Amino acid sequence: MNVVLLGAPGAGKGTQASMLADKYNLLHISTGDIFRANIKGGTKIGKLAKSYIDKGQLVPDEVTCDIVKDRLAQKDTSCGYMLDGFPRNLFQAKELDKFASIDYCLNIDVPLGLLMDRICGRRVCTCGESYHVSTLGGATTCLKCGKELYQRADDNPETVGARLKTYTQQTAPLIDYYKAQGKLISVDGNGSPKEVFARICEALKAPANRI
Ligand code: AP5
Ligand code: MG
Repeated sequence: MNVVLLGAPGAGKGTQASMLADKYNLLHISTGDIFRANIKGGTKIGKLAKSYIDKGQLVPDEVTCDIVKDRLAQKDTSCGYMLDGFPRNLFQAKELDKFASIDYCLNIDVPLGLLMDRICGRRVCTCGESYHVSTLGGATTCLKCGKELYQRADDNPETVGARLKTYTQQTAPLIDYYKAQGKLISVDGNGSPKEVFARICEALKAPANRI
């Protein structure tokens, strides 16, 4: 099963992807994570990506599509994968259709008004875990591995505002793109991560219900 995870910034794509990866044995491929690893490693791609990510804009299509195409050509994707954060505009979606076969697009639907708080309250760990300050009870270290948590550089109100605008203008139209292909499964992303996960699993059991 190859799945595109769609949703606004903070909709819960990363949170749901880590639970889905365990349950369905799917590979989690996040373009945002790939860019952040490149930024940390000081690569040429990282330097370029940072100049766009800091402004809440999309990294240029050619760079992003090449990264995903190369990643999907690797053997470990044969068990199935989830693309988190790709495609993000119509050009990328059309390119993806040229080099991959997507079964479903899982759209996590959350009202935009809730997202600023979710994102600005997020704390992440280098091990990949992600939390919201409201659930940490004052803890500043990862509950899984004990390392110090930190805030993503793009999780500040100004950049989040720009990311939400980019999403509305460029990414939201992909809902109709996948709907027209009969591949869209849209799930209400309100409620606890566990509740949302249960909805997603139900929807995947009965994909004929896709809209
Ligand atoms: P990326 O890393 O993909 O960021 P994003 O799309 O902005 O999404 P987030 O990671 O912020 O949110 P999420 O949906 O994963 O939510 P999460 O589960 O963490 O991209 C970053 C940047 O890279 C882009 O802006 C762009 O510049 C660039 N980029 C990436 N892909 C690109 C592409 N294809 N083309 C060009 N450029 C690209 O949850 C968020 C918070 O909410 C957490 O605190 C979490 O604990 C909490 N939460 C999660 N679920 C719930 C729930 N159900 N209830 C309450 N709280 C919840
Ligand atoms: Mg994410």
